[in-house]
Amino acid sequence: MFRAGILTVSDKGWRGERQDRSGEAIREILSETGAHITNYDIVPDEKNVIAERLITWVDEGNVDVIITTGGTGLGPRDVTPEATLSVVDRIAPGFVEAMRGESLKKTPHAMLSRAVSGTRGSCLIINLPGSPKAVRECLGSILPALPHAVETLRGQGGECGIPEKLSQ
Ligand code: MTE
Repeated sequence: MFRAGILTVSDKGWRGERQDRSGEAIREILSETGAHITNYDIVPDEKNVIAERLITWVDEGNVDVIITTGGTGLGPRDVTPEATLSVVDRIAPGFVEAMRGESLKKTPHAMLSRAVSGTRGSCLIINLPGSPKAVRECLGSILPALPHAVETLRGQGGECGIPEKLSQ
């Protein structure tokens, strides 16, 4: 399985004024799939702080996937996508495309999230919106692809599901 970091981005959560139910939901869902949660933190909606935490976690080498939650909207303090884009070396838009596609079937407000996804080195970083409801809806649509994503990032991707006869 894979190692995951959960980074909650929330001014109120960071100040201790709000329980981090979204981070808890991510932990619960990922743990159920067998992922090992190696890193967890809450940071304020500050671009440099978010970016620094992402870089530190990737450099420490204990995570295959980092899921962020919060700060993806249109609010004046929402800068998680900008922080993420400042640290990734390749974008991997399929994850957020899948999340938005599925989410739009549930709420038109899904289009308000500016979440991005990409890779830094061999680590995949994916933004999720900040509510526990959104976390559950979004994670569900990308979970099936995460194990193979991690394999390919490690260079262990094999034939990507090409039927055996064709790949020989
Ligand atoms: N996506 C899903 N699946 N379900 C939701 O309820 N809420 C939206 C959107 N994405 C939502 C969703 C709303 S209301 C907002 S404002 C944006 O995510 C951004 O949320 P954030 O700023 O907490 O990241």
